[in-house]
Parts: sequence; C-alpha cells; structure tokens
Amino acid sequence: MACGQRRGGKDGETVRGRAVQGASMRVDVVTLFPEMFSVLTAFGVSRRAHESGAWQLACWDPRSFTTDLHRTVDDRPFGGGPGMVLMAEPLAQCVEAARKSQRAAGCERTQVIALSASGVPLRDARVRSLAVEAAARVGLVLVCGRYEGIDQRFVDTFVDEEISVGDFIMSGGEIAAMALIDAVVRHLPGTMKQESVENESFVGGLLDVPQYTRPELWRGQPVPAVLLSGHHARIARWREEQAMVRTQRVRPDLLSGDVRSK
Ligand SMILES: C[S@@+](CC[C@H](N)C(=O)[O-])C[C@H]1O[C@@H](n2cnc3c(N)ncnc32)[C@H](O)[C@@H]1O
Repeated sequence: MACGQRRGGKDGETVRGRAVQGASMRVDVVTLFPEMFSVLTAFGVSRRAHESGAWQLACWDPRSFTTDLHRTVDDRPFGGGPGMVLMAEPLAQCVEAARKSQRAAGCERTQVIALSASGVPLRDARVRSLAVEAAARVGLVLVCGRYEGIDQRFVDTFVDEEISVGDFIMSGGEIAAMALIDAVVRHLPGTMKQESVENESFVGGLLDVPQYTRPELWRGQPVPAVLLSGHHARIARWREEQAMVRTQRVRPDLLSGDVRSK
C-alpha cells in the first residue's frame, strides 16, 4: 500500500513509519496522489532512513474531506481562464488534521510549505535549515498543487512558505515535494556519513569535483594522473581548482554570493 499501513482510514490519513525514540522528522503531505510517495519509502537513502525511524511520513488526501458524491476538490477559476483550481476547504481540512496529528506525535510547531513554481527557489541552505528545524521537533506539512494551482485564500491563511524546485512547470507538486523530502532526509542525524554531505556540490559555494573510478583506462581515456599519485596535498589542490573551474563555467551565479546566502 502506498505511503501507509492505513489507507483512506480515519480522516483520510495514510501513515507509514514505526514509532521511534527521540527526534524523528515528521512529514505530512497533502496530495491527491498519496501512492506516489511510496517511492521514498521503497528505495535508497530515504528508505533506509525511514526504516531506521529517522523520519516518518503521513499523507492526507483532500478527496477524503469532501462531502459530495463525486468527491470534488477543484472548480473553475473565477474571472475565467483555462483549467481548474484546487478548492480551499478540502486543503484546509487536510492541514488542520495534519497539524493535530503532528501535535499528538510530539511536534512543537508545524511549518506549512506549498510547492509552487512561483515560490522561492529551493537552495541547499534552506534544505539544511529544514533538517535542523526538524530535529527541533518542527513538523513539515507539504501541500502539493495540481491543475492551475491552489485557491489563494488557502495559501494566505495556512501557508508559511512557498517553495519552487526550479524555473519550469510540472503537472503537480508531488515530485517537487519528494525532491525536498529526499534532500532534507540526507541531512538528518545518522542518515549519511558527515564526510559525504560535507563534500558535495554547494558546500563552500562551489560545485562538486569530477569523480573517477576503475578501470584506470576506459575506452582510451585515462584517469587524471594526479589522482593516482597518492600525493594528498596535490590531489586536494587539483580538486579545488577543478571545482572552481566547473563552477565558473556552469554556475557563475554561485560565485557571486547571491545564492549562498539564501
Ligand atoms: C501545472 S502546475 C500550476 C502552474 C501555475 N499555473 C503557474 O503558472 O505557476 C500545478 C502544480 O504543480 C506544482 N508545481 C509545478 N511546477 C513547480 C515547480 N517548479 N516547483 C514547485 N512546484 C511546482 C505546484 O504545486 C502547482 O500548483
């Protein structure tokens, strides 16, 4: 079953995550497609962290909070225009139920984030600060839009922060929410070796260095000789230069400092 041992049960909540001692990041997702989130609990680093109890996931389906026969969650936009807009009330009830559930689970505060192309671009610094907040018992509620978006009155009333994962449009907020969760989970205590997360792109405002592994010669292309030298100082210097060259070429904006501070 997607993202939960209980599905469409009490108040439409689906939950997966074993009870844990101590700090565990609690994430509640408001989504019309809770099944999509099973990817996070089924694969890789996020799966292992989930199984270890480092984070817990609950999904809330707005359709479970509707009262009409067709379980309607969207309607046409006032003022005209194409497409449909997600109605405020089912989303509001999802967030209220998620907050209540987070409080019962020991969260001291809830941060409600809507995934939106018109939100603030997600940066490494915000990912890390979300992990710090999670360790301080701040629960996350991620609201995934669909169609043309969400009734603004819901956003004005319930949403603390709108986050974009890039300057492009996706069909829904689910993949954006999954990207955010995956990125934050990597920074939860015990999930990754500290050395790994401190040697990746964006640390120190630079992109990562080129990586090589065996064989030493692949299709006529050798590994850079310095990496085989065993000379640690020279290797470190080479890597610094490579990171700088790559960043200048691909992401000069990182070097201006505009991005690092956010
Ligand atoms: C088709 S989009 C709506 C796009 C909206 N009409 C606009 O022009 O910004 C449907 C939903 O996908 C999500 N979405 C799309 N692109 C996104 C992005 N770059 N970052 C975060 N969420 C995004 C949002 O939740 C949005 O409500």
